[in-house]
Amino acid sequence: MNVPLSTDVRPTSMHSQPRVPSSRTPTTMVCYGGGEYRRPVVSGNWKLNPMTSGEAKETLKLLAANQRALEESGKDIPEVILFPPYPFIPLASELLEGTTVAIGGQDCSLHDKGAFTGEVSVSQLASLGCNHLLVGHSERRTLFDETDVEVNKKVHLGLNAGLRVMICIGETEDEFNVNLADAVNEIQVKKALAGVTAAQMEDITIAYEPVWAIGTGKVCDAPTAQEVHSAVRRVLDELYPNTGVAGRTRILYGGSVTPESIDVIMREPDVDGVLVGGASLMADKFSRIIDFSSPLLVRSPPRVLVAKEVFKVGHTDGL
Ligand code: PGA
Repeated sequence: MNVPLSTDVRPTSMHSQPRVPSSRTPTTMVCYGGGEYRRPVVSGNWKLNPMTSGEAKETLKLLAANQRALEESGKDIPEVILFPPYPFIPLASELLEGTTVAIGGQDCSLHDKGAFTGEVSVSQLASLGCNHLLVGHSERRTLFDETDVEVNKKVHLGLNAGLRVMICIGETEDEFNVNLADAVNEIQVKKALAGVTAAQMEDITIAYEPVWAIGTGKVCDAPTAQEVHSAVRRVLDELYPNTGVAGRTRILYGGSVTPESIDVIMREPDVDGVLVGGASLMADKFSRIIDFSSPLLVRSPPRVLVAKEVFKVGHTDGL
């Protein structure tokens, strides 16, 4: 079967034996999780939601209240990053002030400034108080034809502007079905990180988001996610040998994460957090995801939250 690849470079291994076993058994898995503590990250990508600043305000107020309660509980909580739409960034900064939630841009322009109507630059994001930048989301790659080369340029723009960069990678369902997941992810990682030094890797997070799991309600099963994350760590080891980068870099999972699936996925040793779309738009759901239960963290069981949510999200999985 000839699968059009979701990356602009063909994998060298494409015509040889696929590297992912079809059974995806974890027997050959190399786990870099042991011994290396990586603080978990829970991040929310609001995409083009909600429709008004009023709705954003109400959700942010609920999220801030939940977050304050969580932080005051003395629990060992994960790092939290929110990626709101550009116009809501100042609102998010204002309403989440006093919490540890950091704000990031969902994308950035390839240009610094000038006659580029509708674009938003990294310096503009940084000047609004953003510390983070999301790049290479599959929706940018597929809907806006973003290439691996452009993703790489945005990675450097973000790093040079002092932002921490979260790079999204992930294979399509067709690629997954013909065992090209590892090959595609390897190319996306290598192309995105071209020219990035080991020292700069301190500011890089990778988000593995299988395209077939985004907004579909199909969560990648935890052992499969673990196997892919482990393979990505092997790629990092190859790119940055003897530096500790592979063991230190946080690799998040994204794709239909919910309060129901979070605890299971976070039990995997190479899953260092999540990137959440639909469920991040409801404060209680997102807060429950932040308050995930993991054997790696010393904490009491998650609280039951009861905030009155303010709007319904038109999300394909009915979140
Ligand atoms: P989802 O989106 O949680 O709605 O599947 C994840 C993402 O696109 O980052």
